[in-house]
Amino acid sequence: MKDKPVILKIARMGHPVLRKKAEPVSDPMSAQIARLVEDMIETMQDAPGVGLAAPQVHVDLRVVVFHVPRGRDAQEGGAEGVPLTVLINPVIEALDDETNLAFEGCLSLPGMTGQVKRYSNIRYRGFGLDGKEFEREAHGFHARVVQHECDHLDGILYPQRMDDLSTFGYVEEMQKSFTQD
Ligand code: NI
Repeated sequence: MKDKPVILKIARMGHPVLRKKAEPVSDPMSAQIARLVEDMIETMQDAPGVGLAAPQVHVDLRVVVFHVPRGRDAQEGGAEGVPLTVLINPVIEALDDETNLAFEGCLSLPGMTGQVKRYSNIRYRGFGLDGKEFEREAHGFHARVVQHECDHLDGILYPQRMDDLSTFGYVEEMQKSFTQD
């Protein structure tokens, strides 16, 4: 009998696990990784969030899960969204120098938001749970989510990427003073 997925505790900013560089996964097809991913998906959906990295649930491995909800990315031509994706040992490269500035949030900084500059166009690759490597191009919000989640694997939280900390604050307050696209 398969165990039901469980909701894991999410580490918050300040916890040392969020500052570490995570270890590569040696066998993406192992039962341990399958179980971890199931629990990460359950945790992300419960939160709810668009992405989650293993260090956020106190696991020191290079694994992220994310999805882009339909319609979230309409302005970048990604209205269809991106289905739930498991990315193991990911590698990102920027396709050009274009960047964009937008607000981000993170389950490890509940209630907070801040403006972060990210590459607009990237290519990323990584392994799936089937042990196969795959590659995708991503733009706009999709590219942003992947950059944010993969930063977690290098011990980086979004405030460390911010150029202007005056745009960092509580979501409730920021919504009053900033108009988000
Ligand atoms: Ni995050």
